[in-house]
Amino acid sequence: MTMQQAILMCEPGYFSVDYVINPWMRDQTGKVDHPLAMRQWQQLREILGQLINLVFVSPEAGVPDMVFTANAGLVLGGKVIVSRFRARERQAEEPYLHAWFAENGYVIADWPADVVFEGAGDALLDRGQPMLWVGYGFRSDSAAAALVEKVLGCKTVALELVDPRFYHLDTCLCPLEGGWLLYYPGAFSAVSQTKIRALVPAGRRIEVSEADAVQFACNAVNVGRDIILNHASPKLQTELRRAGFAPILTPLTEFMKSGGAAKCLTLKLAET
Ligand code: ARG
Repeated sequence: MTMQQAILMCEPGYFSVDYVINPWMRDQTGKVDHPLAMRQWQQLREILGQLINLVFVSPEAGVPDMVFTANAGLVLGGKVIVSRFRARERQAEEPYLHAWFAENGYVIADWPADVVFEGAGDALLDRGQPMLWVGYGFRSDSAAAALVEKVLGCKTVALELVDPRFYHLDTCLCPLEGGWLLYYPGAFSAVSQTKIRALVPAGRRIEVSEADAVQFACNAVNVGRDIILNHASPKLQTELRRAGFAPILTPLTEFMKSGGAAKCLTLKLAET
């Protein structure tokens, strides 16, 4: 039996940039246009709501980044690894996330307190092969990939991130239905770029330009043929259409001030 897919979101009730834990947040403290952020999030919610079931976790005061549910944890087969955050500011989200997953019937996997792992922000299921791409270098520890493999019983491929603008894997790589891979090669070490090319055939790789990457083109939500994202140049849109996808653009400028866009604001809950 396949579980019905659903996406977890968190309303940006308390969203703001209050501290700096990635390069995007620099000089953005207090600069979020809150009503605009709310409208942009509602629009994303509306688009996604037409395509898939949505589930919500209540926002909490004092944890402005909780809106980025990609970092709540990593769900696979009814089991969840709840994130263990690097930054103290985000560690404050952990009790709320543990409570939500427990209340909603997920089996919470044991995870050591001293291994940092920021959930689906750094772990993405490939859509062509049964494996997880796991990023490390800025947020999640390099030990996370092997541990995720052990805990969830799914093969992992560790990828080293080297450009601080692309500090989470989901800012620079997005597996798409049918085994396609949307990614920005410059975000990865040479060894990791070689790994990607060895695992995904050239005909299935969609390489994103730096100009598209800094507009969070890789931070996309793929539901069936649809790809929801903040931005894609006409050239990238053409490439996506040629691969059989339908790009849907929705502006998420206020969330980019915090270093996130469409994908960061979502978590797929029924991965198997
Ligand atoms: N301000 C947040 C942070 O730096 C943004 C998180 C974006 N999430 C993501 N999955 N890339 O932690």
